[in-house]
Amino acid sequence: MARLKVAVLISGRGSNLQALIDACAGPDFPATIAKVVSNRPGVEGLARAERAGIPTQIVDHRGHPDRATFDSALHAALAETGAELVCLAGFMRLLTPGFVEAWRDRLINIHPSLLPAFPGLDTHARALAAGVRISGCTVHFVRATMDEGPIIVQGAVPVLADDDANSLAARVLAAEHRCYPLALRLIAEGRVHIVGERAVIDRSAPATDVLINPS
Ligand code: GRF
Repeated sequence: MARLKVAVLISGRGSNLQALIDACAGPDFPATIAKVVSNRPGVEGLARAERAGIPTQIVDHRGHPDRATFDSALHAALAETGAELVCLAGFMRLLTPGFVEAWRDRLINIHPSLLPAFPGLDTHARALAAGVRISGCTVHFVRATMDEGPIIVQGAVPVLADDDANSLAARVLAAEHRCYPLALRLIAEGRVHIVGERAVIDRSAPATDVLINPS
């Protein structure tokens, strides 16, 4: 079985990277991580990659005069691996439209809200302030506008009455760790097609439970 070659871009902790590493360690998993690139040196995600024996590279944004040169260095770091798909996993830099276009439909991201609700930062505090009863995470293809693009997988979790941003983030993060490997699997199996600006999934088993909160 030819596995899809993936590169992962990180900026920090790398718990979603870890979920992808763990998934890729499965004998039947259809993807493999060829390289992990971080824009910050010394982050926990790099140590996770090294422990798994995955090549790492630092492309430090501070070493580049502007976004365009940073993005071309990033592009070169990814292209030389032969990566067929790039996964953003807590990558905290905005990418230029040129970069996004170069990787169009081969670049995915995970975001800790049910998009299109709460794009951007501080999602959990904003979800709590809005009083939503259900939150979650979204894996989507990346477009030039931040946190926009065809949705591949979403995971929903309840917001509890005594939640603060940290407790909600932890519950959503657990969902992220399930959703990101699933999205990667679906893409690697060739089951995700973009039709218009929606992602269509072949042969997917729909969730049938309704999440109602409060129950
Ligand atoms: C996650 O919540 C992800 O959704 C967001 O940034 C966070 C990264 O966490 N984009 P980690 O580095 O994967 O632990």
